[in-house]
Amino acid sequence: MKLKLAVLISGRGSNLKSLIDACAAKDFPAEIALVISNKQNAPGLNFAKKAGIPMAILDHKKYDSREEFDKAMSAEIEKSGAKLVCLAGFMRLLSPWFVEKWHNKLINIHPSLLPAFKGIDVHKRVLESGVKTTGCTVHFVRPEMDSGPIIAQAEVPVFSGDTEEKIAARVLAEEHKCYPAAVKLIAEGRVEIKDERVLIREKN
Ligand code: GRF
Repeated sequence: MKLKLAVLISGRGSNLKSLIDACAAKDFPAEIALVISNKQNAPGLNFAKKAGIPMAILDHKKYDSREEFDKAMSAEIEKSGAKLVCLAGFMRLLSPWFVEKWHNKLINIHPSLLPAFKGIDVHKRVLESGVKTTGCTVHFVRPEMDSGPIIAQAEVPVFSGDTEEKIAARVLAEEHKCYPAAVKLIAEGRVEIKDERVLIREKN
């Protein structure tokens, strides 16, 4: 049986699209049961619509607290049968309650080689720092922002004369491979967390 995913977005949804495309392959071990957006007009919703994936739009402004919003999302996710929650450009901080509830079942993609460059404005800070390599990271979510056991990373070079846009595009192309690859590893049951580090089992 395929692992059911819930994908949470707020905007463009290009990582959602990469997951939709990966899941379209017959032998891919996961399928998307639900897409949640906190923005009614998130462009990424069109990818879900086109693929016929159930969607839930939950406007965070309609809830009294972060935790109430997160509880409503959690109820939708449980209803959908999803067992793994994938953050894909979801621009809301999650409550400790949600992070605890989905412990080791909640993953995120971040456009840097964590633990370097947590937070926002990543590519600007990458340029300013002078590093020659950057990349992306898929990791399990822990209460502290952009931290948690690392499942997969991919590197890209930083060239002289690069701009934020060029780096972002180079990193994004890797994100689109890295996220489905990480989901596949989890769905195949090959990911184990030991001492807050991910161990990947060999394929049988
Ligand atoms: C990506 O760069 C991802 O790493 C970050 O937010 C961006 C989302 O892009 N968390 P998209 O909405 O998936 O196109």
